[in-house]
Amino acid sequence: MKGYKDLSPSLRTIMTPGPVEVDPRVLRAMSYPILGQFDPEFTELMNETMEMLREVFQTSNHWAFPVDGTSRSGIEAVLVSVIEPGDKVLVPIYGRFGHLLVEISERCGAEVLMLEREWGSVFDTQEIIDAIQREKPSIVAMVHGETSTGCIQPMDGIGAACREADALLVVDAVATIGGVPVQTDAWQLDAVIGGTQKCLSVPAGMSPITYNDRVEAKVLRRKTIERGLREKGAAVSGLKPVASNYFDLGMLQEYWSPKRLNHHTEATSMLYALREGLRLVLQEGLEERYLRHQRHEAALVAGLQAMGLTLYGNPACKLPVVTCIRIPEGIDGESVRAMLLNTFGIEIASSFGPLKGQIWRIGTMGFSCNQKNVLHVLGALEAVLLWHKVDVNVGAALQAALNLYARKEEEQPC
Ligand SMILES: Cc1ncc(COP(=O)(O)O)c(C=O)c1O
Repeated sequence: MKGYKDLSPSLRTIMTPGPVEVDPRVLRAMSYPILGQFDPEFTELMNETMEMLREVFQTSNHWAFPVDGTSRSGIEAVLVSVIEPGDKVLVPIYGRFGHLLVEISERCGAEVLMLEREWGSVFDTQEIIDAIQREKPSIVAMVHGETSTGCIQPMDGIGAACREADALLVVDAVATIGGVPVQTDAWQLDAVIGGTQKCLSVPAGMSPITYNDRVEAKVLRRKTIERGLREKGAAVSGLKPVASNYFDLGMLQEYWSPKRLNHHTEATSMLYALREGLRLVLQEGLEERYLRHQRHEAALVAGLQAMGLTLYGNPACKLPVVTCIRIPEGIDGESVRAMLLNTFGIEIASSFGPLKGQIWRIGTMGFSCNQKNVLHVLGALEAVLLWHKVDVNVGAALQAALNLYARKEEEQPC
């Protein structure tokens, strides 16, 4: 047999918009012994995870649980469960992940209405509200924080407009949950999807979601019980069931209810990881965590600008956990990224579609969002850019970041 070497992944400084570094407490949680999925000890951990998710999503919704799969599994579960073929779905798009919502909605048989904004900016909320009033969609699906462009969409008034038009508002908060306020109830969001591998700093592999009674009512219209689990004489809805078995929220919620109706086999180690990640978030405190993300973003931005680099996107709608930088003229962005990785062990990201080769993206998310990493990335980027003969202001970046940290410490002595 071919000899495979022992697994020994390099210790990286991961400054991408996900996946990011994971707290050792989460990694340790993943190494604990497996419990059966109906073992009361395990179902108690499931219940605790639901409780903590409600706090992080800032909701009193009963339903708050993870879908097994990466973040798009949560998006697919919500959309395939609420969209009935022919439903009108309005999708405001200002980057790659808005297009993902279109793609998934179309596959669910929706009639999709797209509202597009130039990448690097977001919508004036009134534009979205006007479109809701004009088009009267059944569902509005939109992204809160666009990692592809580093922009954040204000949400005020959109939830109220959806209620008035009797539309459901589905929000991708994959990049923002745990790093930026996401106020599910106050903003009247009907369903929200989070990601684990970004500001929650848990490995990829689960997608926490929450939804309210309005969503549940739509889901239950098409409720089915899997053929092999039906008891004799059980009533079956006459409507065509949700097109996916794995992502049918009606089935998933029965599994996450005290009934524990058998569905998939829960991903035990990922649940341990998510529970520990959520415990870390709540121990830090939501407000304190948001402030930490802002503090390190500010230091990073001060450093990049002092170096002489130009940020991409409208600063008025900058996503605090992702910073996009224009690649200087004539520079091979991939060569810079490769040198950062191979020489300094630092990973930053490129971008997609029209922005490919145009910008770099640096994440300041979760466990990766700390002073050591920000200073490390600024120092290394300066060295790599000098190596590539870019005319940067030598030494200025780290001094600007250090100044910012010193000021912040004076403001908030610890
Ligand atoms: C805003 C946003 N939505 C959705 C996704 C899809 O997540 P995943 O790759 O975990 O399926 C991502 C991933 O980067 C994202 O940034």
